Amino acid sequence: MTVDSCILAIDQGTTSSRAIVFSPFSDIVSVSQQEFQQHYPADGWVEHDPEDIWNSTLSVCKKALAQAKAKGAHVAAIGITNQRETTIIWDKETGQPIYNGIVWQDRRTANSCRSLRDSGLEKSVSERTGLLLDPYFSATKIKWILDNVEGAKARAASGKLAFGTVDSFLIWRLTGGTIHATDVTNASRTNLYNIHDMRWDDELLKLFGIPKAILPEVKQCNDDYGHTQVALLGESIPILGVAGDQQAAAIGQCCFEKGNIKSTYGTGCFVLLNTGAQAVQSNNKLLSTIAYTINDTTHYALEGSIFIAGAAVQWLRDGIQVIERAADTQRLAKQLDYNHGVYMVPAFAGLGAPYWQPHARGAIYGLTRASDARHLARAALEAVCYQTSDLLHAMQQDGVKPTALRVDGGMVANDWACQFLSDILNISVQRPRVMETTALGAAYLAGLQAGIYASTDALCHHNSVESTFTASLDETTRRSLLSGWQRAVSSTLDFAK
Ligand code: G3P
Repeated sequence: MTVDSCILAIDQGTTSSRAIVFSPFSDIVSVSQQEFQQHYPADGWVEHDPEDIWNSTLSVCKKALAQAKAKGAHVAAIGITNQRETTIIWDKETGQPIYNGIVWQDRRTANSCRSLRDSGLEKSVSERTGLLLDPYFSATKIKWILDNVEGAKARAASGKLAFGTVDSFLIWRLTGGTIHATDVTNASRTNLYNIHDMRWDDELLKLFGIPKAILPEVKQCNDDYGHTQVALLGESIPILGVAGDQQAAAIGQCCFEKGNIKSTYGTGCFVLLNTGAQAVQSNNKLLSTIAYTINDTTHYALEGSIFIAGAAVQWLRDGIQVIERAADTQRLAKQLDYNHGVYMVPAFAGLGAPYWQPHARGAIYGLTRASDARHLARAALEAVCYQTSDLLHAMQQDGVKPTALRVDGGMVANDWACQFLSDILNISVQRPRVMETTALGAAYLAGLQAGIYASTDALCHHNSVESTFTASLDETTRRSLLSGWQRAVSSTLDFAK
């Protein structure tokens, strides 16, 4: 095979870094993946060592490029997609981080968010950013680092430090410290970016006490983000596309029309509904966010964010070790004909949309002496589906009623989970041919900028639906399952008070 116009997609996620080389026809040429360590220094704190992020990313890029080269493929451009909100601050001169990356799941700033909320500031923040006052977003994480690392405030004010989400940090390192940039989707997750005026918001910077000098330049999703240093990957490759991972997945699923909706099941689960050129303000605690800016056109999205999805299965595997592989959950869940009243509320990082309770903790209800790994596996998978149902219910309250949901991410390889999801939502669930839609979205962006793809319309010919799951559960059972879940969530919320 000789293919000249391949694209390297870097997908820097919460638990692993991946690099995938795509052919111009969206076929996967090579893949490399590396997990890295999670740090939990205190209750509710989650950190990443930025050097682990960097080293794992560089290593998977080298491996994927070497495999692609051996197959005769040539990479013409790079697209980057990343875990969003995770906050890194580094020294501009040395490129060294001044503190670990504070991960999006980290709850350490819950109390400062609460006091801002108590001062009545949430409405104004939300009107400008589309977000809420929750520790999930970057602003209070930046402030925490500036307040807690000695000398950081003064160095930030004098322009010696740089802030970035993971995309910015990788761009900085890949370009040898020459480019300090991010894209609109990542900027829209910081609580500092005005999504209507499309600029860093001076009022918000003042409110959170963050100097403008540390912020990256904000670019379109398909744009020029500089070239990689030859010494890193053996050649200088242009970085031509960037988007936060959930927006990238929507792009990989070709959600370019108003009303298109997708749900991605990674560490968490994130439902994005394209709302077109209008940012829709939710009355039901969903977020308004930038879906993308491509070729000077911006689309917005309504987003429902669930913090724990695949991470619940990971907890069964690595935490309490009742399964060996994530795929075991399908086999175990199928062995039961119903859930026997066992519900898991995986609030391991608080509860996100639509509850927004950072102090909530995980819980399992309904255990008996007969409960075993099958019940836990089934409860974990069911919980992901019930949480998706909560999000779609909130969207419905906001006046949107989807008839089909495009799904992607590691968990959707699980047929049982896709069928249960369709049954609980009572709509059809569509799984694409290329399930790596997050990486594919980053590749699409770089490919658009490189001229490999002529337009967003042209992209939609490359990924098609592989399977459609159709709802087949009777209404009485569906309602009774949902009511069990709602009781479990209410008890979890009560316990957090
Ligand atoms: O907002 C957090 C999100 O970007 C993390 O995504 O793929 O690591 O679950 P993921």
